[in-house]
Amino acid sequence: MIAAIGAVSSNGMIGLDGWLPWDIPEELAYFEEMVAGAALVIGRLTYESMDVVPVDSFIVTSQPELVFKPGCQTETSVEKALLTATGTGKNVFVIGGAALYAAAWPYCQRFYLTRIERAFAGDCCFPESIPLDRWKIVGEERKTYLERKTGLATVCRFVQYEQENPLRLPG
Ligand SMILES: NC(=O)c1ccc[n+]([C@@H]2O[C@H](COP(=O)([O-])OP(=O)(O)OC[C@H]3O[C@@H](n4cnc5c(N)ncnc54)[C@H](OP(=O)(O)O)[C@@H]3O)[C@@H](O)[C@H]2O)c1
Repeated sequence: MIAAIGAVSSNGMIGLDGWLPWDIPEELAYFEEMVAGAALVIGRLTYESMDVVPVDSFIVTSQPELVFKPGCQTETSVEKALLTATGTGKNVFVIGGAALYAAAWPYCQRFYLTRIERAFAGDCCFPESIPLDRWKIVGEERKTYLERKTGLATVCRFVQYEQENPLRLPG
C-alpha cells in the first residue's frame, strides 16, 4: 500500500526553517512508529533536514548528481520513486514535504494526517490542491500533548483518510 503521512497546524502550516513549526515529541514518535520498516519516499529538502535516513529511502530530486548520504537512492520523479519503493515489497510512505505530497497524493490510498489544533508560524504550507475533504475518514484519535515551544497543552487529531480509487502508477 502507498500512503502519505504528515502533520499540519490549524492555519495550514507544515514547515518552518526546514523543520517542523512545533515541538511535540509524542507526535514525532507516532510518525516514527508508523513508518518503521517501511520504504520511504522523501523530497530533497525534507531529506536534508534528516540526520538519519533509514534503509529503503528514495529521495526525489531533479539533481541526482548531488552527493547524498551513503545508501540513499535518488529518483528524478515521484512516479519513479514510488515504483522503486513498491518494488521493495514493503509498505510505502510518502513523508513529505509539501512538494512531494502535492505530486504523490493521487497514488496514495491513505493519508495519515495529524491535525494540530493550534496555529503556528511557518514558511511551508500543506498543499491546498489535495482534496482530502473528498476522502473518507477511516480512523481518528484525539490526544492532548504539551507543545514545548509554547508550553501549551495542544490537541492532536490523528486522522486517517482513505482515497477510494488511487491512480495506478504508470508502467
Ligand atoms: N509537517 C510535516 O509532516 C512535514 C513532513 C515533511 C516535511 N515537512 C517540512 O516541509 C518543508 C519541506 O517541504 P518542501 O515542499 O519545501 O520540500 P520537499 O517536498 O521536501 O522537497 C522539495 C524538493 O524535492 C524535489 N522534488 C519535488 N517534487 C519533485 C518532482 N516532481 N520531480 C523531481 N523532483 C522533485 C526537488 O528537489 P531538487 O530541488 O533537488 O530538484 C524539490 O526542490 C520543511 O520545512 C520540512 O520540515 C513537514
